[in-house]
Amino acid sequence: MRSSFTLLLPYVILASPTPSLCHSLDYRNWNWKRALSLWERGEERNVPEEGYYDPLQSGGSMLTQIPVTYPAGQGEPLNAIITGRSDARVLVDAEVNGGLRNYFLSFGFSGECLGQHSGSDQAANLGDGNGYKNETSVIRWNYGDPELGSCKETIQGGNHFRYWVQDGPQRNTGAVFLAASYEKPIAQQHDIIPNGYNLGRDWLIGNITGSSVPTANLTNTTTYTGSTSWAGYTYQTDISYVSGLLADTNDGINHNITVGLDGVNSVDGLVAVLDIRITASPPSSSAGWRASPISLRYLICCVLLLLTSLSFVPLF
Ligand SMILES: *[C@@H]1O[C@H](CO)[C@@H](O)[C@H](O)[C@H]1NC(C)=O
Ligand SMILES: *[C@@H]1O[C@H](CO)[C@@H](O)[C@H](O)[C@H]1NC(C)=O
Ligand SMILES: *[C@@H]1O[C@H](CO)[C@@H](O)[C@H](O)[C@H]1NC(C)=O
Ligand SMILES: *[C@@H]1O[C@H](CO)[C@@H](O)[C@H](O)[C@H]1NC(C)=O
Ligand SMILES: *[C@@H]1O[C@H](CO)[C@@H](O)[C@H](O)[C@H]1NC(C)=O
Repeated sequence: MRSSFTLLLPYVILASPTPSLCHSLDYRNWNWKRALSLWERGEERNVPEEGYYDPLQSGGSMLTQIPVTYPAGQGEPLNAIITGRSDARVLVDAEVNGGLRNYFLSFGFSGECLGQHSGSDQAANLGDGNGYKNETSVIRWNYGDPELGSCKETIQGGNHFRYWVQDGPQRNTGAVFLAASYEKPIAQQHDIIPNGYNLGRDWLIGNITGSSVPTANLTNTTTYTGSTSWAGYTYQTDISYVSGLLADTNDGINHNITVGLDGVNSVDGLVAVLDIRITASPPSSSAGWRASPISLRYLICCVLLLLTSLSFVPLF
């Protein structure tokens, strides 16, 4: 009973007439503090020409660790990297001031449904001296609804990614490593669709460039440029596909039995490397963030959020 209640809640909220503010307000508060501490660390960054260090060169891995897999020890590929050469504002994990979360919103991806963390944690070792760390967060395709679309993704499946920042004491580049994949609906235990790692990466890139990426024809010389905007910020993203970081393989890849098909490996060996410039920003730095009025909806939403936490079971 409890689990079906949890499942239905997002629908209850989705069914109400205007989008909820609760989640984003909640996030913004939390992000202010976080953003500040990341800014401070940014001062110590040391970024090589590529914009990141290959984790493998210093004891890390381009595959994640997952608590339980069959067989044990399989991981998911880190198949996209936002370089540490990108605009410093994008490398701050915040929605305000044109930060990383605002960049994700600019191509249709939002934080988790009502701020509730769902799905298992995965750990990555970026070779930066931090060892294995759980993901910073999980970001989901929002189906065109920035406030609540990620709830739909959680239930119906779709594109999503986890991310980690290479900011440890030994290799502090500020680069952001993404593990993108396209998952099936929750009713099918969130398995990955066939070719779902390569496709998850390329649909994400397609959302940035605005035209579809031919996954089967990519090489390590493929490049694209895309422009996306959100909250008054415009981002130019230069993308190049890079080989040599990931192997072209099925071995050790989570769900490799169903993901690799028709002679195509679960992981095609390419990583999409993203360099981001901010080409336009709001007239005043405060314009990107407006305080929203506290409404009855907000209060209802918070009560529901509380209920969700109380009745939350690790089903998602
Ligand atoms: C990741 O989070 C889980 C709880 O979801 C915790 O048990 C585990 O110790 C964490 N792993 C790391 C490497 O921090
Ligand atoms: C954008 O993302 C959606 C969801 O993953 C995908 O269906 C669509 O094909 C993507 N758009 C492009 C142009 O790749
Ligand atoms: C991929 O390359 C093949 C052979 O060059 C070509 O026939 C096909 O149209 C390409 N597919 C896409 C989606 O670009
Ligand atoms: C691309 O891959 C080929 C091997 O398939 C390799 O010889 C070449 O150096 C790579 N080029 C780049 C730019 O990484
Ligand atoms: C999947 O990976 C495991 C190693 O984790 C390997 O033994 C197995 O052969 C792979 N399965 C396929 C279908 O490639």
